[in-house]
Amino acid sequence: MSESTRPDPDAEGPLASDPASSEASSAEAESRPAVETSTAKESAAAGALVQRRRFLARVSIGLGAVGGLAIGAPLVGFVVAPLGREVPRLWRSVGKVRDFRIGETVNVKFVDTSPLPWAGVTANTGAWLRRISEDTFTAFAINCAHLGCPVRWLADARLFMCPCHGGVYYEDGTVAAGPPPHPLSQYLVRIEGDEVLIRADPIPFD
Ligand code: FES
Repeated sequence: MSESTRPDPDAEGPLASDPASSEASSAEAESRPAVETSTAKESAAAGALVQRRRFLARVSIGLGAVGGLAIGAPLVGFVVAPLGREVPRLWRSVGKVRDFRIGETVNVKFVDTSPLPWAGVTANTGAWLRRISEDTFTAFAINCAHLGCPVRWLADARLFMCPCHGGVYYEDGTVAAGPPPHPLSQYLVRIEGDEVLIRADPIPFD
């Protein structure tokens, strides 16, 4: 074969191009729009997912707020409603005069004047009642002036003792020791016929 018929690898033009690489380029060119379409679909789907998540988050927050209100409103009412109620001041009988001996201090029970409907047994309260003379009584609150724990009367020591934080009161109700900020509260007492009555006022606490 003569030299003039051999193909020149450096020659340009259609005769110099590789048929295989030309086919690959055209296939790549054909597949490019499909790839771009699929990327656009993916980003649209991702956008829709984000929107859906935001919507669900808002729905969750809204439902949480409604649930919180549904639970919280009755609780607030439970706590606040009694504050606005006027507490009646009623005289409660705690027994016959003859039931009490002069000089003795005993625990008497009576019903709170304004028990809440759900109070149950907590509506029952009490006092330490002492007969001073034939026709004189004094009554001390059973609840400590500090945080309201029930105090006990120690007849031998003639002291009231609070078991919660060691509050001690003399027999006249004044503070002997411990954290109580003021003496034991006292109730008004009167005799009506042969009954001893206590006026069941609310007891102040600090
Ligand atoms: Fe009585 Fe604290 S409640 S000392």
